[in-house]
Amino acid sequence: MQSVELDLQHAFFPQRFITPGHLQRLAPRLEWARQQVLQDPNRWTPEQPEFDPLFFPWPEQALQEHRRQEGSGVLGQVFQVAQRLRQEVQTVVVLGIGGSYMGAWALLQACRGPFYNLLPPSRRQGPRVFFDGFNVDGQYTASLLEVLSGESDPWGLIVISKSGTTLETAVALRVYLEALQNHARKSGDLKHHLVVITGPQGPLGQLAQRWQAPRLEVPPGIGGRFSVLTPVGLLPAAVLGLNVVALLEGAAAMNRRFMQEPVGRNPVLDYAGVCHLWEQRQGVHIRVMASWTNALEGLGMWYDQLLAESLGKEEQGATPLTAVNTRDLHSRGQQHQQGRRDKLITNLVLTQPPGKLLRVPAWTEDLDGLNYLAGRSYADIMAAAVQGTNQAYAQDLRPTINLRLPELNEFTLGQVFQMLMLSTVVEGKLLGINPYGQPGVQQYKQNMVRILRQAGSGQV
Ligand code: PA5
Repeated sequence: MQSVELDLQHAFFPQRFITPGHLQRLAPRLEWARQQVLQDPNRWTPEQPEFDPLFFPWPEQALQEHRRQEGSGVLGQVFQVAQRLRQEVQTVVVLGIGGSYMGAWALLQACRGPFYNLLPPSRRQGPRVFFDGFNVDGQYTASLLEVLSGESDPWGLIVISKSGTTLETAVALRVYLEALQNHARKSGDLKHHLVVITGPQGPLGQLAQRWQAPRLEVPPGIGGRFSVLTPVGLLPAAVLGLNVVALLEGAAAMNRRFMQEPVGRNPVLDYAGVCHLWEQRQGVHIRVMASWTNALEGLGMWYDQLLAESLGKEEQGATPLTAVNTRDLHSRGQQHQQGRRDKLITNLVLTQPPGKLLRVPAWTEDLDGLNYLAGRSYADIMAAAVQGTNQAYAQDLRPTINLRLPELNEFTLGQVFQMLMLSTVVEGKLLGINPYGQPGVQQYKQNMVRILRQAGSGQV
């Protein structure tokens, strides 16, 4: 069993009044929060737009449905649509923003690596996958369209928007649809190239109907940033040839630990508890998610959104920050070691760091003085960097948590996604904040639309 592990060895310092005893004293409140999370799905009704607790039972539900009625359930639909895209196109563009793209983007990075799209088709596990619709950056879009215009083969378009009204994604959809229509005229019908993932309401449903495009649903009761394990993340993952069942099984395994383990052995409750203690007792309100592999930078960014949008309310909530080490030890390391004591660092560490086979060559002349490393692997050097950095922070009573993944695969990633979603909700309960919804984001949207409408009518 490949379980992710939470290592709290350097998370407690009696000198700073945060100890395992404090975590145990928080246990009754954590237990109360756990009960709330367990009961929330029973309290859900479609009439409560800012209450989306159904991400919690979702992994088991989706797996059970798949086992009962293979082919016709949500997973069956995901496999069917992914299979068709994998057979028919060499390139897929995914349009979405926030929770409608960050999970899929994190999965691409984690499981396929940074150069996947550059590989020839024979060495890829599926079509190339690009993302857009997460900004209104004309230069980025123009560059990607230029790449697509050089394609002789048809390409596919997956548009993901729960509301269907998000301006960034909607504008991109018009632009990419136009390009796709021009292409599709050469290569067949649009319905073979477009897939829509949306909520039960909103204009995208009509659009799917109009183009006879397959439509998958963002399940009701699951909010954008909690939707990575629904078709929102699973379809792009399946297009990439990832094992989506293992992703869900990982999440279900984390659910079991969350439901069964006591404080002190429960990764969700312990993580939420330690973060909460440092924030409330010591004013440590910056959460650094430090990935010790480039592959998990996307996961860190996904967590940025999860934490910021869920808990950044009512003038509360910690500030997330993603770092990639050792890269960022050369930019942020100084501040993390000696700056304000306002940071709690979570290290995302691979127990078996990749790069065992890549070794430092020996030179007959030791011109750069590195022969003491000859024959050592990248993995050895990375392990020393993690240990050395944690020691340095601990020596200065700066707290770190290690979240260890035995391997980087779909099963361990499913665990991490679910663990972080659950612990964010538990923290929300401890703070008395509704972790669902993002009412503050409406303000910029309303202003932007007003400004654009005024500009359109010549008022600006
Ligand atoms: O977490 C959320 O709900 C948001 O970040 C949304 O995912 C984001 O705003 C995109 O919304 P939509 O999927 O409706 O386009």
